[in-house]
Amino acid sequence: MKIGVPRETRPGEARVAATPEIVKRLIGKGFQVMVEAGAGTAAAYPDADYAAAGAQLGERAAAYDADILLKVRRPDADDVAAMRPGGLYIGLMESCGEDALYDAMQAKGLRVLGMERIPRISRAQSMDALSSQSNIAGYRAVLEAAARYGRFFPMMMTSAGSAKPARLVVLGAGVAGLQAIATARRLGAEVWGYDVRPETREQIVSLGAKPIDLDIGESGAGEGGYAKELSAEAKARQQAALADELAKAHIIVTTALIPCRPAPVLITEAVVQRMRPGSVIVDLAAANGGNCPLTVPDQVVERHGVTLVGYTNYPSMVAADASAFYAKNIANLLDIMIDKSDAGPVLKDLEQDEITKAMLVRP
Ligand SMILES: NC(=O)c1ccc[n+]([C@@H]2O[C@H](COP(=O)([O-])OP(=O)(O)OC[C@H]3O[C@@H](n4cnc5c(N)ncnc54)[C@H](O)[C@@H]3O)[C@@H](O)[C@H]2O)c1
Repeated sequence: MKIGVPRETRPGEARVAATPEIVKRLIGKGFQVMVEAGAGTAAAYPDADYAAAGAQLGERAAAYDADILLKVRRPDADDVAAMRPGGLYIGLMESCGEDALYDAMQAKGLRVLGMERIPRISRAQSMDALSSQSNIAGYRAVLEAAARYGRFFPMMMTSAGSAKPARLVVLGAGVAGLQAIATARRLGAEVWGYDVRPETREQIVSLGAKPIDLDIGESGAGEGGYAKELSAEAKARQQAALADELAKAHIIVTTALIPCRPAPVLITEAVVQRMRPGSVIVDLAAANGGNCPLTVPDQVVERHGVTLVGYTNYPSMVAADASAFYAKNIANLLDIMIDKSDAGPVLKDLEQDEITKAMLVRP
């Protein structure tokens, strides 16, 4: 059975869906692996390492002509045209509900496993690409803030004077937010954390940050560990109650998201106006409209003396490790999808396992 690993073509995307280490593991399981030449170059995995791992290297068309195609980002129409009819596509589909792209894929008889659909159950944790990539985003976002902040994060006492620690607030204490808290603490900032799900309070405290406690009259805890959207009244109460805490912050790393909904506005323009000049807001919700309405996706802008960072692909900035984690997620997924046979690996019925069943787009 042939696995294809093409180069990602989305502008700014440096990750690759399989690293040489994972290619070796797949070949050990009896797969034949064809990697597009240069697929791993941007993530610092040279062609020679893939060849040493046993992969074949070829043109884009050869990588697409596979039984199973491994990708990071959502395909475009050209990708779909290049795929082998009847093949299986595995990647992050970045889609909510119905999607015209699925029509084209279905018309070619392709089956699609969306990596973002992996259920949040213990058995699937080692395959959870949203978590592995969010963790990296939380880390990288704090480094971005530190590099753009014209002062120190830690308290500094030197013969040339002393500096107070930065006051950093993390909004949204999910996977990215908790890693942002941990990273900011390591850099020596004073850190506050806030989330609309009450159970996060303990996690915030366990990482050495102070929780921001607000009474907004309702809980934001939703299904499957995710947050639910607040009522309009609770949103207004939340904005008002957060305002004083946020205006005092020097750095805000904001990660509040509800799957497939516009991001909630947590930082109003009035709050940005009140922040000290030179402050930094890193808005990880930029792709979904931002937790601050002044954020511009994929740009760094200055408003009222505050720098707003709106990058939308932090994992790609840590491409080597992000690829390694993502590739490991995929390899762990493939492990539950195949049976061994004398003729090599055989795909199981994807509807029989609750993980692959949940991932199937239009089964
Ligand atoms: N396999 C598993 O069991 C598994 C895997 C991954 C994550 N999880 C859990 O799922 C939960 C969600 O994690 P995530 O990182 O994917 O979340 P996410 O990326 O969907 O959202 C980020 C955070 O924003 C918060 N948020 C949403 N609206 C908000 C608002 N108005 N104000 C403040 N905060 C708001 C959410 O509660 C969440 O913590 C976490 O508890 C995580 O531990 C479980």
